[in-house]
Amino acid sequence: MIKGALFDLDGVIADTSVYHFQAWRDLVAKHFNATLPDDLEAKTKGVSRGDSLRVILDYLGETVDQVTFEALADEKNTAYIKLLDDLRPANILPGITDFIANLKAQNIKLALASASLNGPYILEKLALSDAFDAVANPAEVTSGKPAPDIFIAAAQALNLEPQDCIGVEDAIAGVTAINASGAFSVAVGDASDLSHAKLHFPSTAELNLATIQKAFEVAR
Ligand code: BG6
Ligand code: MG
Repeated sequence: MIKGALFDLDGVIADTSVYHFQAWRDLVAKHFNATLPDDLEAKTKGVSRGDSLRVILDYLGETVDQVTFEALADEKNTAYIKLLDDLRPANILPGITDFIANLKAQNIKLALASASLNGPYILEKLALSDAFDAVANPAEVTSGKPAPDIFIAAAQALNLEPQDCIGVEDAIAGVTAINASGAFSVAVGDASDLSHAKLHFPSTAELNLATIQKAFEVAR
């Protein structure tokens, strides 16, 4: 029986992942006079702000000192938060509101397992803070996704074992993290990248709790 649902945020609950990459693109255009290719986005998805910046600097073949690194990460975050200005409940991705209601109707507890330090702020803007029983703090875990830490912390915050939970993700690193935690991975989005998920839906609109419950019972 599924007792907990551990949610990624960006790209699962709201399509804020496009804003993340937009903010990185603007930063890179300004400071390095360069353009980031579309396919780099997948590598920055799910991983922490610092790890995203490392992926980007690596792509650019640039090295910067620690002070510059922090300044670039801060500037990206300021730009990102500005892009979130108009975020509202209408930005919740299709199917998510119903999916959350269905989980609650089954007494399944909800926790946020996002790498984003902006998680609580975004939930507030989406009017979803009360929907979550717990929010795992990415600043308090040792290793970011693809390490399992944030999913383990999210399960712990619900007083549950990861094995009794599902994790919902749109990122390669996120699915790897769920699998490593022992939770049952449910992926949404781009199929070719997410084949390591135990169950996959083409988009959030297709998320189906009955299908997930059946697959979960077979796997357990
Ligand atoms: C993840 C995003 O949810 O959060 C990543 O997929 C992002 O792209 C990471 O780097 C950290 O987010 P933030 O808001 O703390 O910079
Ligand atoms: Mg995501």
